[in-house]
Amino acid sequence: MARTAISPADVTIRPMLAQDAGAARAVASAALDELHPRDLSAQEAAIQAASATARVAHLQRTDPGGCWVAELDGEIIGTAIGLIRDGVWGFSLFGLLPDYQGRGIGTRLYAPALQYGAHARGGIILSSSHPAAMRRYARSPGYRLIPTVRLSGACDPRRAPTALRCRAGDLTADAHTIEAASRHVRGASHLRDLPTLLGRPDSCLLVVEGDGFACARDGNVMLLAARTTAVAADLLWGAITSGTRGATVCVDFISADNNWAIDIGLEAGLSIGSCGPIFVRGQLGTLAPFLPSGAYL
Ligand SMILES: CC(C)(COP(=O)(O)OP(=O)(O)OC[C@H]1O[C@@H](n2cnc3c(N)ncnc32)[C@H](O)[C@@H]1OP(=O)(O)O)[C@@H](O)C(=O)NCCC(=O)NCCS
Repeated sequence: MARTAISPADVTIRPMLAQDAGAARAVASAALDELHPRDLSAQEAAIQAASATARVAHLQRTDPGGCWVAELDGEIIGTAIGLIRDGVWGFSLFGLLPDYQGRGIGTRLYAPALQYGAHARGGIILSSSHPAAMRRYARSPGYRLIPTVRLSGACDPRRAPTALRCRAGDLTADAHTIEAASRHVRGASHLRDLPTLLGRPDSCLLVVEGDGFACARDGNVMLLAARTTAVAADLLWGAITSGTRGATVCVDFISADNNWAIDIGLEAGLSIGSCGPIFVRGQLGTLAPFLPSGAYL
């Protein structure tokens, strides 16, 4: 049961420990599920929880200084998680149990997570549409806001080009292609995070040799980075047609510089919808052709 009469001094902000991963995942899911309620089967919910916990545990291992929790009466009530890759900081997860929101706790929790990335040469935050989140990010020193949209709907595979260049990828054999594409678009490799990202059932890696890659989960685009829009278009078609025929697919965080993705989404029969903004600062890559990962930026 949530306490209603709490003062900020009752809440402790401390680094996340390995054993906190499950609880931190649960509070972040509760926060985000309230914002975007989802109707998942028990099996889908279990898969989702397992992969989200694996993500938190992975980031606690790679970035123990970037992962924080808020604790009240010995229970975790919030979490803020950031990672640094090749000198670029990214903010991966931020959530507070709904009963405790709007009292300044999130601001206290965000401060050490942001500080972890203060000396990084660049930073990326993918925001939800929660007003407190957008306000906090927009007022973070040096960050600028990039509006984005999302595409969703059932993809019509008959609209896809007849011959695609992309093929199933391999994290070891295609490491050079993956790292080069990531560094081109965001100035930092994604390779270290891809085993965890692709660890969830139904995930796939698509590659165009030397030029780009995409990660998809049952037709939903999790991440795409390429050196040219022609390659990105090929990968996006490959990704959105890789899932169950007729199922709803989503592509999030599409900025104006990535209009090539809008063209393809509309051609495939998807609809444009609203999405939270991206906030960036410092030295990054071209940010296009790029569809960033909500979990790993
Ligand atoms: C985002 C979140 C972690 C912020 O934590 P919080 O404790 O609620 O935020 P705070 O109370 O510290 O408020 C942060 C700022 O937003 C303002 N704010 C808080 N709630 C607000 C609301 N509902 N509408 C508008 N502004 C709001 C505060 O006044 C504060 O601004 P200020 O310091 O300039 O006055 C929390 O609201 C949450 O879990 N939201 C749902 C999950 C989510 O969207 N996470 C972000 C993922 S990117």
